[in-house]
Amino acid sequence: MKKILDLITAEMKAAFANCGYDEAYAKVTLSNRPDLCEYQCNGAMAAAKAYKKKPFDIASEVVEKLAASHVFAAVDAVMPGFINLKLNSDYLADYMNGMADEEQCGCERTENPMTIVVDYGGANVAKPLHVGHLRSAIIGESIKRLGRFLGHHVIGDVHLGDWGLQMGLIIEELKDRKPELPYFDESYEGEYPKEAPFTIGELEEIYPAASAKAKSDEEFSTRAHNATLKLQNGFKPYRAIWQHIIEVSVSDLKKNYGNLNVSFDLWKGESDAEPYIAGLIKELEDKGLAYESQGALVVDIGEEGDNKELPPCIVRKSDGAALYSTSDLGTIIEREKDIKPDWYIYITDKRQELHFVQVFRVAKKAGFVSQDKKMSHLCFGTMNGKDGKPFKTRDGGVMRLETLISDISQAAYEKIMENRTVSEKEAEETSKIVGMAALKYGDLSNQASKDYVFDMDRFVSFEGNTGPYILYTIVRIKSILAKYQGVEDKYQGEEQILAAATDAEKDLMLQLSRYNEIMETGFTELAPHKICQYIYELANAFNRFYHDTKIISEEDKKRQASWIRLIRLTKDVLNACIGVLGIEAPERM
Ligand code: ARG
Repeated sequence: MKKILDLITAEMKAAFANCGYDEAYAKVTLSNRPDLCEYQCNGAMAAAKAYKKKPFDIASEVVEKLAASHVFAAVDAVMPGFINLKLNSDYLADYMNGMADEEQCGCERTENPMTIVVDYGGANVAKPLHVGHLRSAIIGESIKRLGRFLGHHVIGDVHLGDWGLQMGLIIEELKDRKPELPYFDESYEGEYPKEAPFTIGELEEIYPAASAKAKSDEEFSTRAHNATLKLQNGFKPYRAIWQHIIEVSVSDLKKNYGNLNVSFDLWKGESDAEPYIAGLIKELEDKGLAYESQGALVVDIGEEGDNKELPPCIVRKSDGAALYSTSDLGTIIEREKDIKPDWYIYITDKRQELHFVQVFRVAKKAGFVSQDKKMSHLCFGTMNGKDGKPFKTRDGGVMRLETLISDISQAAYEKIMENRTVSEKEAEETSKIVGMAALKYGDLSNQASKDYVFDMDRFVSFEGNTGPYILYTIVRIKSILAKYQGVEDKYQGEEQILAAATDAEKDLMLQLSRYNEIMETGFTELAPHKICQYIYELANAFNRFYHDTKIISEEDKKRQASWIRLIRLTKDVLNACIGVLGIEAPERM
């Protein structure tokens, strides 16, 4: 369906053109004075300068042309030259009926689908998931779903950190603990065991122990570095251990991401870039882009218009090792070969901002991707505790994802039990859904780049701009619809949404009509928080309408049927919106 704003703008453009003014001035926006009007156009002010006339005169001319438009109920020129608009209620009701008839409530799939790689999650094999990975997973999942909803071909890649020093650390620690394993026996010539020589529990303990040891024990740290190099150079026994580490860790990660309702199409990682590294370094050298600096190989990335000097991108360290940037460049080459994305979207915390500027610029300079390739880094801020410091457990450790999820589900459970509308058993089930919504919505409703405070009490509250409030609204609509099912003398004609009878009803319709535009904006701007803001406003509009409308006892059956259709549409729109955020609603709560 056409966006309501575009339809309104088209009317305004025609009116400007009819008066002999450039239609470029006919820009319409949502009103910032909802008490006065619903939409507004301030174009007469800018036009006044160009045409050397009074803004009010231009506004008045345009308003006259709009008088006969079926789109508006009221069009007013107000001093000094604003044009205030109110939509015609019949027109709006028609638009609602259109939405109710269309697939995806009128939010169309694009005619020009892009292939998009969303690189998110970013877990590091064998290292614990931290809250940064949680944010990346939640935000990335929503971007992926939103892109798909709009008809794009979106591929989610977890891009594991599976190639770094943690591998050498684990290998050396394992050697110290279990020297009898065949991987450490140089004379061993048989096959290596299929079973991993450790469980996930052990692995989780081995890595932190090794990492701590490396800090105080220089000899151990050197050994770990060497083991990492050996692994990267293809040393067979270490490759075998590495394979085990990946298997054990990935199956645990899948479980963790699964609990978050986050899933990836690709489980690739930094190690997959390895085959491309040597070639890409050579290409950078051959093209004269890479040069030696203090023993390292670097590429300058400065561009005209930079307001500060950006450090060059290091592609090889002085000891010959590749780096994070090199592996991201290798991954780009691989993706160009296998996927040919039109758009790359990376989702990490904002401390990696410079890294991605470097990687994108080198990739373009070297021609690994075309000059105009869309490459975005959606960076997010820190999730802080109430003390304003990065979120930790009570004893200061890294918060385990499972703990976080179970804590928030527990808090949700208590809230649900306060209401006492469902049985204890149902509350328990529902609390998982509600807890997840609280967590995700609490995150997504903030502009990603900003830090935010993880406030469990606020997140699980049924009031305010929270996940549970949105779910509660959906559940409320479901319950009215179920009651209507039981109403005997239903209207038997064709259900149609009628022109709004009250301001609250019209306001609900106005909110609904913004839906397809919001979905698109949320995606093109990579801004799920805008969808959250919209959902909140829509839920508020619904609740105000519901507050002063007695739907089930309404005697005018035609009117009642209209309301039923309207609230069903509201539910469908809310469901679609939470769906793209990776949130689901329970039946009751
Ligand atoms: N593993 C990285 C980390 O924990 C995130 C990876 C992000 N993706 C990428 N292509 N660099 O910070």
